[in-house]
Amino acid sequence: MTARELHKQLPIWPYKQRIIDTVTGNRITVIIGETGSGKTTQIAQMLYEAGFASEGLIGVTQPRRVAALTVARRVAEEMNCEVGQEVGYRVRFEERTSRRTRIVYLTDGTLLREMLDDPELSAYSVIVLDEAHERSLNTDVLFGILKNLVKARKKPFKLILTSATLDSAKFSSYFDDCPVLNIPGRQYNVQIVHSEDNHENDYVAAAVDTALDIHLHQPPGDILVFLTGQAEIDKAVKQLGEAIAELPEGSCSDLLILPLYAAMPLELQARVFAPPPEGCRRLIVATNIAETSITVDGVVYVVDPGKVKQKTYTPATGMESLQVVPISRVQATQRAGRAGRVCDGKCYRLYTTGFFENEMSEATVPEIQRTNMLTAVLYLKGLPLDIDVLAFDYLDSPGSEALEDALRQLFILDALDRDGHISDLGKRMAALPLEPSLARSLVAAADHVCLPDALTVAAMLSAETIFSGNRGPVQLLRNETDARGKMGALSEQARATLAEMMAEGLGDHILMLRLFQGWERSGFSPKWCKDLGLDVRGMHFAREVRKQLADLLAHAGPKVLPEESVACAKTIASGTKDSREAKRKRPSAGVDDLRRALLVGFANRLARRMPRHNGYKTLNERATLAQLHPATARIAADEDGLMPEFVIYYALVATAKVFLNKVCPMESEWVEDVLPKLRNIDVERLSGGVTTRKAAKRAAIAGQVTETAAARDLPAGVPR
Ligand code: CDP
Ligand code: MG
Repeated sequence: MTARELHKQLPIWPYKQRIIDTVTGNRITVIIGETGSGKTTQIAQMLYEAGFASEGLIGVTQPRRVAALTVARRVAEEMNCEVGQEVGYRVRFEERTSRRTRIVYLTDGTLLREMLDDPELSAYSVIVLDEAHERSLNTDVLFGILKNLVKARKKPFKLILTSATLDSAKFSSYFDDCPVLNIPGRQYNVQIVHSEDNHENDYVAAAVDTALDIHLHQPPGDILVFLTGQAEIDKAVKQLGEAIAELPEGSCSDLLILPLYAAMPLELQARVFAPPPEGCRRLIVATNIAETSITVDGVVYVVDPGKVKQKTYTPATGMESLQVVPISRVQATQRAGRAGRVCDGKCYRLYTTGFFENEMSEATVPEIQRTNMLTAVLYLKGLPLDIDVLAFDYLDSPGSEALEDALRQLFILDALDRDGHISDLGKRMAALPLEPSLARSLVAAADHVCLPDALTVAAMLSAETIFSGNRGPVQLLRNETDARGKMGALSEQARATLAEMMAEGLGDHILMLRLFQGWERSGFSPKWCKDLGLDVRGMHFAREVRKQLADLLAHAGPKVLPEESVACAKTIASGTKDSREAKRKRPSAGVDDLRRALLVGFANRLARRMPRHNGYKTLNERATLAQLHPATARIAADEDGLMPEFVIYYALVATAKVFLNKVCPMESEWVEDVLPKLRNIDVERLSGGVTTRKAAKRAAIAGQVTETAAARDLPAGVPR
């Protein structure tokens, strides 16, 4: 059967007419169906066939970039076209759409950014907010904005929310009592086996053992193992491979071991969608991505250690942590369900029933309640809707502390004026697909005429991996091998090159710049990267991002940049002068302008050295004590052996201790210019809406006590 015929057999297909009727008759529809029932791939096609795309695009958002790419590819295949024709995608730094495109898969972040230019989303006739159960930050923000747009837009507009499991009553009431369609899945029985111990620290080993045991003793059927991240997955895949190789020939059937995580190249990911060779069992070792957003067919056994890697941000301290935490009961149920899609299945939980019942929370805390709200607030402020972010209609509020923290930081970055309105600079920043600090640095760099270098730093910081095998420059210089033992030590010459770059003593950002420049001078040689322990793919990604950013700046032109920098962006985007420029610019060329631009962008993440001490204290509300991360690239000390008085940092992370991550030293006299901005921030006034709330309060008081109201009613322009 072709993909086109197969899709008609998905559980969602019999509901086609009901879906179309409901969407036709309502502005908002919620569709709930089990993972794998065909929501992501089929609904857009059904609507397209029913003519919903004749007046505008059908946009389907995905919280994950990789899901948008794979799904667009799949749907294009089902519709017999190339990606970029009738079906396309748009994600950060990459897009494939054309004039023919009718269905576009895009990340929720991309849709938010598109709204800044086109707040009515006039290009779209339908928006499907997919994977609503994931409650990603951007999807949550879109809930509130699109709910209002549905009512406000004159041109017809349909909003659809799709989800695996969901509190449908809560959703329906939030979305003006919209109808909820339930698509029953074809779920087979899944037998749940709890282990007798909780594998708190040895869950990777336990998962490996369990998977092997299933392979050796259970009837055919693919195995899906959930782990928390790339490093863990690579380790498990290696151990599994070794264990299988040690088994005597013919003692078990063939086993194909496949890793699956977001940072993996698409070609490799595609392997999990290809049918396995006859008589071969597949063992897929995946992150949470396989829990709901990607469905792998053929799975009969699930191994669930009950863990997930979760990012948490504490607004009071500005501290971030990435921790492995227990999943929620909803997630555990979701994972088990993955075993019952083709026949009766089994789920092996590497934790006790007691743990499931007493230690796991019912549902996961939505991202909006545990993340930095900076970017989201900048977008909300960037929309011409005069949104009071504190009083905004959130499905679940991020809380005033997180919002005030974001307002304060955006003010420090000059994105907001004292009354909390977005400034011209803020608009320029919001137009860039970068977090506000990097965006602010770029804009500042354009003014300082050091745009090429700032672009490099922004791109290098946007790449997930620069160094291969979990080693940083410090470990490389110390000649440490990587955790997996795959890569050996660097050659003497490579270490000398790295040492020379680090000798500059200006920390991580500048080292990133030097590495990129070195690679550029090598003619972007893959060998050069490998010799220095750099991840070739990561470096290429950075190069691509740099070009994309330059392209974007060149196109945005004077809206974002001063005239003279537009020309510079154009040159970089076209790639013509890159290498010549690199030759001209020796590594010793000054980077003071770049550092100053970084200071402006990271003024919200400044730290000051403690007197006569090498520890630092953050210069935010809750001055937090922190150390430079041991992996920080060399920073030169002064004659007294003391570290620079001021540094900017990329993140404040809490692991065993509190660390400043990715650091660049700053000259004290530059910081003097910035410091006043950090003091006396009037958050009440910044939050904008507070003034209206104050006015409302005043009006209420006025109604009760008239004479005092008269005294309060000062003429306009008099400071209160
Ligand atoms: O969104 P939902 O979880 O309801 O299902 P879906 O993602 O639309 O997947 C429907 C079917 O298409 C599943 O059987 C997937 O395995 C298959 N699919 C695929 O083979 N390749 C993809 N890239 C995406 C989905
Ligand atoms: Mg889906």
